[in-house]
Amino acid sequence: MQEIIITGASRGFGRHVALKLAKPGKRLHLISRSEATETAAEARKLGAEVKIWSIDLSQTAELEKTFLPVLNSIRAEDTDFIGLINNAGTIKPVGPLGKYDTQEYRGHLELNYVSPAVLTHLFVKRYQAEPITKRVLFVGSGASQRPIHGWSHYCSSKAGVDMLAKTIALEQDSMDHKVETAVFNPGRIETDMQELIRELDKEDFPLVDDFIASAKDGRNLPPGTVAEKLAQIFTGDNYPHGEITGR
Ligand SMILES: NC(=O)c1ccc[n+]([C@@H]2O[C@H](COP(=O)([O-])OP(=O)(O)OC[C@H]3O[C@@H](n4cnc5c(N)ncnc54)[C@H](OP(=O)(O)O)[C@@H]3O)[C@@H](O)[C@H]2O)c1
Repeated sequence: MQEIIITGASRGFGRHVALKLAKPGKRLHLISRSEATETAAEARKLGAEVKIWSIDLSQTAELEKTFLPVLNSIRAEDTDFIGLINNAGTIKPVGPLGKYDTQEYRGHLELNYVSPAVLTHLFVKRYQAEPITKRVLFVGSGASQRPIHGWSHYCSSKAGVDMLAKTIALEQDSMDHKVETAVFNPGRIETDMQELIRELDKEDFPLVDDFIASAKDGRNLPPGTVAEKLAQIFTGDNYPHGEITGR
């Protein structure tokens, strides 16, 4: 039984990723704050085994306590593949640094950067010595490559994730049983996050008109289409270890 942990699987992109990976012979561990019961029911219909974990990943000081039960439920000796897809993320708050509540900005960094870093640390620590396929995929963003007004925390947390993945890949290259690590940038996909972006105030987010246009002119892809690509890469033979890849 292959074991795959997916964060942010209750809705949006993570939900579609879970459904594309849902097949007999796979056990999915779905993590989000709300219980991902709908995703789980659909994934079971597609033949996968599913475990649901309700965890607030922005509470990063608690992650050793909250995430270890997920790892403890997986027996590495009984599988040839263990994967972690760090997908959960937020765009909020949007607006220039200095404007919004400190805790909101801080929570954003905790969810988008600190939690994937800590989950990956715990994953690597637990499975480093296992002679099986071990893969970590970070869901990144094109925002990691350029500054966008109002997105200081989003751009910088996603840039941090890119460098985190590349640095872990470098370290893993000298290990006997490496954990393969990569970033997948989905591009604009039609989820709650895009809806929220379209409703932003121009003062906070001057690019809002472009995001309203991209929902109509075909630039936003359906999440299922992009999730299919991610699933192929994640389970395929040539994992893009150390690379930033995308749709
Ligand atoms: N949408 C796009 O156009 C786009 C473009 C580039 C990159 N991305 C990236 O793709 C990923 C998924 O985005 P999306 O568009 O699917 O977002 P979304 O529709 O807002 O879904 C976010 C998911 O993350 C979970 N989540 C949010 N806060 C959480 C927390 N504190 N703890 C645990 N889980 C939490 C949510 O579940 P609960 O609310 O139940 O916790 C939900 O399942 C993100 O990393 C995003 O940055 C998206």
